[in-house]
Formats: sequence, C-alpha cells, structure tokens
Amino acid sequence: MKKILMTILLALPLVAFASGSEKACGTIDCDPFKPDLHDKESLQRGSKYFVNYCMGCHSLAFMRYERMADDLDIPHEVAQQNLNFSGGNVGDLMKIAAPIKEQKKWFGAAPPDLTLVARARGVEWLYTYLRNFYQDEKRPYGVNNRVFKDVGMPHAMLELQGMAVCAPGPVHAENGGIKRDPLTREEVLFDPQTGVALNPCGRLNIEKAGALNGDQFDQAVSDLVNFLAYAGEPSALKRQRMGVYALFFVSLFFVVAWLLNREYWKDVH
Ligand code: HEC
Repeated sequence: MKKILMTILLALPLVAFASGSEKACGTIDCDPFKPDLHDKESLQRGSKYFVNYCMGCHSLAFMRYERMADDLDIPHEVAQQNLNFSGGNVGDLMKIAAPIKEQKKWFGAAPPDLTLVARARGVEWLYTYLRNFYQDEKRPYGVNNRVFKDVGMPHAMLELQGMAVCAPGPVHAENGGIKRDPLTREEVLFDPQTGVALNPCGRLNIEKAGALNGDQFDQAVSDLVNFLAYAGEPSALKRQRMGVYALFFVSLFFVVAWLLNREYWKDVH
C-alpha cells in the first residue's frame, strides 16, 4: 500500500506537467511548431528571410556567415553575394551596424539580438508571434501583436502576409483573452448563438492581401523559425550524429565484453 501511495505521489508532478503542455502565447494559445533541422532547404530559405526581413534591425551576433554557409550547404560565394549585405568578410559575425542607442530612440525599445531567441522564447512562441501582427492605428507603426502586446517592432513581413485585421472570435480558454473588469462587463462580446464570450480580436482576417497566401506565409514563417532554432544551437545536428556513433560503439563493445566475460568464467563453472 505504501508503495502504491509513493508511486502516485511521485507521478503527480509528471501528470501536472503533461496536462500543462498547452502553452499560452500572450492572449492566445500557441500554435504547435516542431523544428526540422534536417531540412536543409527550409533552413536555407529561412536564412534568406532572416537577412532580408530581420537583419535591418536585429543582429545574429554569435553566428558567422561562414559557419552558417557551411552548416546549410551554401557555397561561400553564394552566401557572400546573397546573404552578406555588410560588404564584409565571409568570416565576419552577423552583426548589424545600427547603434543600439539610436534604435532605442526609433522604436522605444532596442531590437534584441536573435541568436538565442528560439531558446529563450521557444519555437512555438516565435512561430505564433510572427504570424499575429494586426492593424492598430493607435500604435506608432500602425500594428499591434496578439502575442506581444504593444510591441515596439513594426510588422516586418507585412508585404508578404498582407495586413491582418481583428474580428471577434473565441476567447482564450486560460486567461479570458482580454482582461475583464467586472464593472465593464458590457464590453465583453458574446456569440449570440452559443452565448460564449468572444474576444474582440479572437480572429484575424487578412483584408489587404500580401505577396503570399495564408499557407505560403505560414511556410515562410516555419522556415524562418526553423532557421532561428538552428542558430540557437548550431551544433545540434552534429551532436545527434555523435550520439548515434556513441550508441553504436556501446553496443559493439557490449558484445566484446560479453564474449570476454564468458571466456573468463568458462573454467570456473
Ligand atoms: C524595423 C526594425 C525591426 C525589424 C525589421 C524586425 N524587428 Fe524584431 N524587433 C524590433 C524591435 C524594436 C523589437 C523590440 C520590441 C519591444 O521590446 O517592444 C523587436 C523584437 C523582436 C522579438 C521579441 C524578442 C524578445 O524576446 O523580446 C522577436 C522574436 C523579433 N523581434 C523577431 C524578429 C524577426 C524574426 C524579424 C524578421 C522577420 C524581425 N524581428 C524584424 C524591431 C525590428
């Protein structure tokens, strides 16, 4: 009986952990995302999106162009021509020239270095964040974000996605989607058919189409987040390969050890 109790007690945190895996991203649920570091083409496209749409403001200060090119199977000349706009060397770090102080003045907050952002924020957060900018005329750049409220960053991929506009939709299950003051309850929207509370920005509709359709844009953001996941841990692929070699060696050694053991004990028995 004691044993059963102990088992249950020990297992409880595991259950709690498993049921809490549905993560919240700001006012909405995170969209699921799994990086695929073996997909070199996706990583190559991601690097292209990064240097074209993000590097105007963000650095990737712990990564060198050369390392990136080698890891992603991009020839150095191609990388220098298409990915390195600094005019510098292929061995340079992927830093931008804009001074942080000035950037702070322009945006209200300095754009952080993104080398480790996939590890700090998580890939699902990034994937959801980059797809949830919406029109908000009250903000300096005319956009807000459902994951990062009042973010200082403009919608960098506006020309690809087009402008998304809020429409009433389901409230996020966990925190109600919007902060509700009991005194201002009339501000909460309800679905007349189901009586379920609606978030005034529960859904995003693309009103002005961009260069890509919805699926294509999701794919572009997947590639970009995949690339950021790689940048956060460039040795992940090599480490996995080493792991396979190590396991192979251990199994081989097991056979040798077993044969040797049998040899030693042969005369004793
Ligand atoms: C015009 C400048 C600009 C461009 C271009 C830009 N960003 Fe930003 N970004 C910012 C600023 C400024 C912030 C800080 C916002 C804040 O803290 O309010 C930011 C914040 C972020 C954050 C949040 C970081 C954190 O953990 O707080 C992420 C992630 C991010 N940017 C990713 C990107 C990606 C990916 C791209 C390319 C598609 C991009 N940004 C393009 C200016 C920019």
